[in-house]
Amino acid sequence: MKSPFFGHVLIFLMISLSRFPHVTASLRRLGTNLTSVTFIGDLHADVGCAKEWVQKTGLVNVTSTPYKWLGDPENDALVFLGDYVDKGSSSASVLQFVRSLQETFPDNILTILGNHDFFLILDTALSFSKDNPHPLGFPFYDYAYSFMHPEEYLESEWVETRTDDEDIYGVLMTALQNTYAKRMEGSVHLCAPECNSEEQVNIFETIAPFKTNPELAKKTQDRLGTWRSEYAKGLFDSGLLRWMTNQPLVAVVGDALIVHGGVSKQVVNYMSSLSTHFDIDVAEALQTHINEQFQKFFESNLNNVTGPNMIKGRMTAGYLTELILDLVQHRGYFDRKSGCSDVNHVISTVNSEELPIKRVVVGHTPNSYARELCGGKLLASDSSLSRSFRAYGNMYCPLSSERAAQYAKGASCGATPEDFCDGSISRMTRPSANDPWPTKMERYLLEELTPLSELVMDELLEEL
Ligand SMILES: *[C@@H]1O[C@H](CO)[C@@H](O)[C@H](O)[C@H]1NC(C)=O
Ligand SMILES: *[C@@H]1O[C@H](CO)[C@@H](O)[C@H](O)[C@H]1NC(C)=O
Ligand SMILES: *[C@@H]1O[C@H](CO)[C@@H](O)[C@H](O)[C@H]1NC(C)=O
Repeated sequence: MKSPFFGHVLIFLMISLSRFPHVTASLRRLGTNLTSVTFIGDLHADVGCAKEWVQKTGLVNVTSTPYKWLGDPENDALVFLGDYVDKGSSSASVLQFVRSLQETFPDNILTILGNHDFFLILDTALSFSKDNPHPLGFPFYDYAYSFMHPEEYLESEWVETRTDDEDIYGVLMTALQNTYAKRMEGSVHLCAPECNSEEQVNIFETIAPFKTNPELAKKTQDRLGTWRSEYAKGLFDSGLLRWMTNQPLVAVVGDALIVHGGVSKQVVNYMSSLSTHFDIDVAEALQTHINEQFQKFFESNLNNVTGPNMIKGRMTAGYLTELILDLVQHRGYFDRKSGCSDVNHVISTVNSEELPIKRVVVGHTPNSYARELCGGKLLASDSSLSRSFRAYGNMYCPLSSERAAQYAKGASCGATPEDFCDGSISRMTRPSANDPWPTKMERYLLEELTPLSELVMDELLEEL
């Protein structure tokens, strides 16, 4: 006991424990021996293109059951940058697809969360009503643009089929087109089963044809409420909600810091102060004070409930909601004046000897193709891979070709989604695990106008 050696071991152990309070996970994922990392940007509920792009990487055979890893088991990695859901009509299918890939190849595939995934978690998990408002004011599916597409409910196996579903969908789409024509999408909300806050302008009370037909309004509002609650139950019962809450918001693969929106100067400086306070690295602060707090909140609460929208707790500890919102929604890296200096600041603050960081990889901010900015230190990966997003941006428009032909078209719904996948994905490679990663990435396009493979077309047709 008196041996000085033992004392040193004890001190070393105490330091180790305080430095690594959670030894199970670190910000670094997928090992240190990688020689290739492929990045796929925002998929936004287009399962056809999701499968097409994954097949295109050559890393996974998506036509075999179960999926087969074609890449090197130790050297190749595939990273999804979040925003699996919304805008298109196959959110659940994309979630099932990426979950299946991530669970089958956990050592090779990383799936971080985007803002749309985070919002879906909140809308599905938390309990809210007029007396107990949504933590961010109102549920995101209430917005007249961008979130859970009404067509998803018609196609979902979780939602019961009713004979007048198509009629109700048509009326809802007409009201949405009227909303866009009046440029009221920023203020009008699809309140169902009811408005969550006095601030909401209810589409069912203010927009034609609902404005003059309260009976139709009530019927449509009730049905949308039913669709939402059945869909939420499906997300909960299928385990997809729980799976989402187990994915990180920020991670490191290779020499890349990976986050959906970005780590703002404020967040990285706050992490820096936590790192000083707790005597840990900034990377560890991101892991323990964001990823793990988020996962713990949902783990303890989801274990405690038997259905969706039952969690009464609020994620208030340590500004967790604000920190996560910042990570998933940040767009500051694209500021022409300060963007690249922010990127450099984040890299140098998170970088350490144990965890060398040379670049940041983000999704969230769309472009036609993935772009390398700031001399290769920023990879902007959101290349609008979702066909519905390419066709309609943030508007809800009919998506299947039958429905597109059938329902009223507003100015915002002129085009129809293309039947081929577009955009680009990126890959960085190095000759061996002892070499540094290169500054420049390789960029992959699908051949122009490549039709979807027979397989993917068949699956899409099955879904309709
Ligand atoms: C990385 O490769 C080295 C050399 O082949 C090996 O000794 C080590 O165990 C590998 N590390 C991991 C995490 O697989
Ligand atoms: C993928 O799997 C299918 C079905 O098992 C098989 O026919 C095909 O040859 C596989 N492709 C590759 C590239 O391994
Ligand atoms: C779980 O439920 C029990 C009983 O309803 C409650 O006392 C407890 O606070 C809940 N735990 C959490 C983490 O919400």
